[in-house]
Amino acid sequence: MELLGMSPMRTKMTRIVTVLLLVGFILGVRGGEARKGKVTESFAYTGISCRRHTASITDFGGVGDGKTSNTKAFQDAVNHLSKYASDGGAQLYVPAGKWLTGSFSLTSHFTLYLQKHALLLASQDMKEWPVLKPLPSYGRGRDAAGGRFTSLIYGTNLTDVIVTGANGTIDGQGSFWWQKFHKGKLKYTRPYIIEFMYSDTIQISNLTLLNSPSWNVHPVYSSNILIKGIKILAPVKSPNTDGINPDSCTNVRIEDSYIVSGDDCIAVKSGWDEYGISFGMPTKQLVIRRLTCISPYSAAIALGSEMSGGIQDVRAEDITSVHTESGVRIKTARGRGGFVKDIFVRRMSLHTMKWVFWMTGNYKQHADNHYDPNALPVIQGINYRDIVANNVSMAARLEGIEGDPFTQICIANVTIGMAAKAKKVPWTCTDVEGITSGVSPRPCDLLPDQGQKKIAACDFPAEPLSIDRVVLKTCTYRVNHM
Ligand SMILES: *[C@@H]1O[C@H](CO)[C@@H](O)[C@H](O)[C@H]1NC(C)=O
Ligand SMILES: *[C@@H]1O[C@H](CO)[C@@H](O)[C@H](O)[C@H]1NC(C)=O
Ligand SMILES: *[C@@H]1O[C@H](CO)[C@@H](O)[C@H](O)[C@H]1NC(C)=O
Ligand SMILES: *[C@@H]1O[C@H](CO)[C@@H](O)[C@H](O)[C@H]1NC(C)=O
Ligand SMILES: *[C@@H]1O[C@H](CO)[C@@H](O)[C@H](O)[C@H]1NC(C)=O
Repeated sequence: MELLGMSPMRTKMTRIVTVLLLVGFILGVRGGEARKGKVTESFAYTGISCRRHTASITDFGGVGDGKTSNTKAFQDAVNHLSKYASDGGAQLYVPAGKWLTGSFSLTSHFTLYLQKHALLLASQDMKEWPVLKPLPSYGRGRDAAGGRFTSLIYGTNLTDVIVTGANGTIDGQGSFWWQKFHKGKLKYTRPYIIEFMYSDTIQISNLTLLNSPSWNVHPVYSSNILIKGIKILAPVKSPNTDGINPDSCTNVRIEDSYIVSGDDCIAVKSGWDEYGISFGMPTKQLVIRRLTCISPYSAAIALGSEMSGGIQDVRAEDITSVHTESGVRIKTARGRGGFVKDIFVRRMSLHTMKWVFWMTGNYKQHADNHYDPNALPVIQGINYRDIVANNVSMAARLEGIEGDPFTQICIANVTIGMAAKAKKVPWTCTDVEGITSGVSPRPCDLLPDQGQKKIAACDFPAEPLSIDRVVLKTCTYRVNHM
């Protein structure tokens, strides 16, 4: 071996290097965990784009000990990698570990990849959450009149961004925020886990989100969004922990997701009262498929209540819900304006529900007292078919608005098994118009039964939406990290 022929000088050098390495090793011991040397890992995902450049959060001083703040490391990493936007794009790899961080912003042509056993822990230091202005379509924050804390993972005015992983997990550590909310101690609206604003071509996939301070995933004023393979878990009594809220967005596809939460599993929105009306940006061309939802106090899918910019062309299919208050619920009120139209729902399997169908025309919360009570919402073309439900307290509670009926409601091929302790009258309907076909128990008189032959009346559109034609590429990489 070369060592045998080594000069005394080289031997001395070797000793110094060995000592330095030892010192480095000892200094590297943090929280009882020895730092390993560089390791090479390979990883792969399917994405809307693959990236030419890869770096690890450890290249930017990130420490995955669950105690050290990595907010600066994440922001430095994104800022550095943003240089590659026009050179094939870049991605940030987060290895296994517990990465404490406050809010940070992403960049365009960028992927954030969370390896298996990578856990992002949301900071509980308020200084790590910058405050943004209220959303123009809401006029104020949801929790407080003023601004809102920036979401943990935030992006605005971006294009081509992926947040994905091998079931990496993001823990919002929400109880800190829920307590402040309950005590009325919030100066600003709580942050979300992921928010994209004014962005285009976004993918969020294969992640687990835990205990969000408030909503989990909020794309707003954005288009071409794919959300797939997301697991969202929050205590069923936690406040406003909605799962996924597409808000004034076009061309959105949400699929293969599992949500247990304290509020609606999916809430489709488009701004609030006079602010939403003047902003005027609807949510449209939305597909929701293969969703499993558990939400005892809320809906599997809610349309509204903030729908003042309009909601149109929503297609929901293969929805499973267990122990959930209602299936697809419409929430609106006088003063909202806007519309909910061309809604298509098929193949729902529901177990233990309060209401299968619920439409509410007097959902009271208003942004302020300046709403126009004559701004009436148009609710029209609401289609449900092929639904099986069991252990249901009430089949339907459909309440339109006096002088502004909800019209063209179509319900077909629905079998509802009532609970032993069900309400005596299974359907109550006011200010609604439409038809039913092959529905049991017998619907209300405002939705007359047309007989079995009319089942096709509430059919799903045959033409797919453009978001359904998105094809994902397989991207494979190797990365070195500490
Ligand atoms: C999600 O993970 C599964 C299993 O590893 C993989 O087959 C799939 O391509 C991934 N999909 C996306 C959209 O990330
Ligand atoms: C983002 O885009 C919106 C809408 O086009 C614009 O009003 C806003 O100024 C942009 N913000 C930034 C930070 O570029
Ligand atoms: C993903 O991670 C979550 C939380 O760490 C865990 O509950 C879940 O079982 C994991 N799922 C898979 C498929 O590994
Ligand atoms: C039926 O629903 C009730 C609540 O309404 C619940 O307590 C009961 O366990 C459910 N039964 C079954 C068989 O799921
Ligand atoms: C009615 O719904 C059931 C359950 O979803 C389905 O299996 C059946 O094919 C539907 N019938 C028609 C005529 O579409």
